[in-house]
Amino acid sequence: MKDLSLENITDAVLQSIDGTQDARLKELLTVFIRKAHEAVRETELKHNEWAALTEFLRRAGDISSEQRNEFILLSDVFGITSLIDLVSASDTPEETTAPSVLGPFYVPNAPLLSPGDDMIADNDGDRVVISGRVLSANGDPLSGAMLEFWQNAANGLYSNMDPTQDDTNLRCRMLTGDNGAYSFSTIRPVPYEVPDDGPGGEFIRATGRHCWRPAHLHVKVQAADHGDLVTELFNTQDDYIEEDAVFGVRSSLVVPFDRTPTTEESARYAHVAKPFHMVDFDFVLQPADQ
Ligand code: BEZ
Ligand code: FE
Repeated sequence: MKDLSLENITDAVLQSIDGTQDARLKELLTVFIRKAHEAVRETELKHNEWAALTEFLRRAGDISSEQRNEFILLSDVFGITSLIDLVSASDTPEETTAPSVLGPFYVPNAPLLSPGDDMIADNDGDRVVISGRVLSANGDPLSGAMLEFWQNAANGLYSNMDPTQDDTNLRCRMLTGDNGAYSFSTIRPVPYEVPDDGPGGEFIRATGRHCWRPAHLHVKVQAADHGDLVTELFNTQDDYIEEDAVFGVRSSLVVPFDRTPTTEESARYAHVAKPFHMVDFDFVLQPADQ
């Protein structure tokens, strides 16, 4: 019989998973067990404290459904989603666009618009035209790249959390033209609070934080022979730009949402009611073989 002690229990548990066939799974489990044991030792964790954590996780399970995954929100508010983005971007060329959180409100198969089209429909809000190109890391334009955009409405809500909006409101897909160009008119997104009625909110309140995210436009970009990009664009002028509840802001993703259109742009986007402002952003993708 093994005489388990404070000194050898971690090794005994690690030995017990020695037979794990999948090498990556074994690596993940080994590090997780080692660090979790280390945390128990360092904090001298008590049973009632551990029970509080398991109860917290049970509540996260309880409030989760097909439409809502509280564990993803917890990953976001603990900065783990953003840390994974930062780790994955750390070995990509500097010129590639930084990734940022997907968030819970993505819906596939949004309406397909053509470059220059309008996404405003009957939404209230400050009108903007977002335009730019999709490029490869060497600067080559990528035609036929698929962009997907989604954002919140003037009331702060996404279409899939607000029964008063059409399911596809403020969502679109767009293929880039010959020169990799895209553009569409929309309204400026507004800051909003992440859902706080579950364990994610409990954590935020217990730590004296707030639930606000700075206004952002979500973007997913896919192009042949390139890695997919999931990111967000933020407005330079935003009260929450320094304190995003989910740590998604990167300085390279923060752009002015208030450039005055040139005469040529005013004519090109004549279908957009004035006044409107321009937002410029090029998305740069990493070739798949790098
Ligand atoms: C969002 O971008 O909408 C979002 C991201 C993470 C958690 C909750 C909301
Ligand atoms: Fe969002």
